[in-house]
Amino acid sequence: MQKVYIYKKFERFWHWTQAALIFFLALTGFEVHGSFSFLGYEQAVESHRVAAWMLLILIAFSIFWHFTTGEWRQYIPTFSKLQAQIRYYTVGIFKGEPHPTRKSVRKKLNPLQALTYLGFKLVMAPLLVITGIVYMFYRTIDANNMVIVSDIPLEIVAFLHTLGAYLIIMFAIVHVYMTTTGHTPTSNIRAMLTGYEDLEDDSEQPLKDENKKEE
Ligand code: HEM
Repeated sequence: MQKVYIYKKFERFWHWTQAALIFFLALTGFEVHGSFSFLGYEQAVESHRVAAWMLLILIAFSIFWHFTTGEWRQYIPTFSKLQAQIRYYTVGIFKGEPHPTRKSVRKKLNPLQALTYLGFKLVMAPLLVITGIVYMFYRTIDANNMVIVSDIPLEIVAFLHTLGAYLIIMFAIVHVYMTTTGHTPTSNIRAMLTGYEDLEDDSEQPLKDENKKEE
């Protein structure tokens, strides 16, 4: 085992800022939805809009970062060990079996994580962002009478946006549980805070050896 610098500064900033913004957007969004009263409706609407803009800016920077660093490749799903990974989380983990895949700087995500995070990036986040933007500019977006977005009933936009909110909350709950399934219950969380994680040193090994079973 060796201490490896796995999560870069921007990556950690982006991860925790995104987590805080999603938490705050869920809080204010569900107040707008009428689920509870906390800040007051007007304040919740205003705060939700400000946080939404902050998230949009963060997403723009993170897309830039993923493509300029090549980190987007981490999310290309691989299916060879997918079944073994699912079996591990449903059965093996409770019997103390070893992880079926190995984490490294070039392969931070196991096959199930890569697939789930890809779904987050390509389905859940776009659903929330697109419906959120349509919601935000409803009645003002069609000023030139060319684009008739406001023909979509607002109830449909609100329904799809709320559906996205439920999906992302489900994701967050499972995600937090999954973070406790590393070498120790807190090793993954500490790695996302400090950047460093204890991993088997494989920096000299070719990519194809990376998913080898743990000894
Ligand atoms: C960039 C992303 C987002 C944008 C642009 C956005 C925008 C909006 C807008 C414009 C509204 C209507 C209230 C208002 O006028 O301010 C709204 C409502 C809402 N938002 Fe968001 N939002 C985003 C992200 C999120 C996230 C991450 C969540 C939850 C995790 C969320 C949950 C909700 C909920 C539950 C409502 C109430 C829907 C209703 O019943 O009418 N939003 N959002």
